[in-house]
Amino acid sequence: MRDSLALTSRPEVISFAGGLPAPELFDIDGIRSAYEHVLRESGSRVLQYSATDGDPALRDAIARLLARAELPTVADDLLVTTGAQQALYVLAAALLQPADVVLVENPTYLAALQVFRSVHAQVVPVPTDDDGIVVEALRELVAEHRPRMVYLVPTFQNPTGHTLPADRRAAVSRIAAANDMWIVEDDPYGELRFRGERLPLIASYEESAQRTILLGSLSKLLAPGMRLGWLRASATVRAACAVVKQAIDLHSSTIDQAAAAAYLAASDLDGRIARARLLYGERCDALLDALARTLPRGSSWSRPNGGMFVWVRLPDGFDTTALLPAALAERVAYVPGAPFYAGAADSSTLRMSFSAHPPAEIREGVERLAAVLDGRQWDGRERS
Ligand SMILES: Cc1ncc(COP(=O)(O)O)c(C=O)c1O
Repeated sequence: MRDSLALTSRPEVISFAGGLPAPELFDIDGIRSAYEHVLRESGSRVLQYSATDGDPALRDAIARLLARAELPTVADDLLVTTGAQQALYVLAAALLQPADVVLVENPTYLAALQVFRSVHAQVVPVPTDDDGIVVEALRELVAEHRPRMVYLVPTFQNPTGHTLPADRRAAVSRIAAANDMWIVEDDPYGELRFRGERLPLIASYEESAQRTILLGSLSKLLAPGMRLGWLRASATVRAACAVVKQAIDLHSSTIDQAAAAAYLAASDLDGRIARARLLYGERCDALLDALARTLPRGSSWSRPNGGMFVWVRLPDGFDTTALLPAALAERVAYVPGAPFYAGAADSSTLRMSFSAHPPAEIREGVERLAAVLDGRQWDGRERS
């Protein structure tokens, strides 16, 4: 599949595969000015080694972002990381022993599964429905496995686009507190809400505040190429994570952090987020409309209120991994659902990202996909 997905970057392919921010949202001039500013004003500092915890001005700016999301935070609560991906790795390495059980939503973020497997944790999938993790199932699996950690993407989940309602967030918080379990709340998409009201972060619930590690990222707000993310955790967890981070890269890039801080101080971030929400909302609607018009009867799909992903389920019997080469031949790509599952996979699922294409391209891409589905047997072979 890795080879197939490599083909998705060919220019003639309309790819719903990657979770890429819309390139037209990159503020190239603003970011260039931020780099020029820090090089001009403090060149010898930003080209030097720096502290593992991260640039104080950047940590202040992130703390303000979180406070705005109704999670009171100060710079000292944060460790800056090289993307949220690194945050995930350092906390797994710091908190997990081989064979520790980690509960995950099923399906879940693929690269989180890779992280947990790389530290030899035992990953146990928790069933989900259209609202995310099923609380009763979580309770039972906690009693059965005594897990060390539960990993969740509660808001606009990758890959499903689902959002966990407030009552389930409160239940997760209570279950974790009663069972001495870490909660990892991965929230790279929370600011990209284009419908509905913001929900409280799990990290803001009193019972589990000390045992929740919140991960965030500038990838979807500024630019993923800057590789800047963070984790917010108690002092003890942060210290353990900082030791692991030191072993990996000493600190995240000094100049990139300084430029991000300068950018956040000078730019109208609210205005930029508002623009992103509008653009992604339009693109999401274009995808949902096109799916409704074209997918075979019996298909279903998620209807996200934000983020970048729609999760599609084709009628029973379709195998989206087997269909991918035919889709690529039709110049359309998606990610088959199977690798997102920690347990038995539903092979009729696929993930489609709407963020990187304008509506007309989205419609064209879905038409190509529908043509593939129309001309195929359900196992991906061409109809004779
Ligand atoms: C759920 C989730 N967590 C973490 C990441 C990694 O983000 P970053 O670019 O900050 O490393 C992603 C990226 O797609 C993601 O979807």
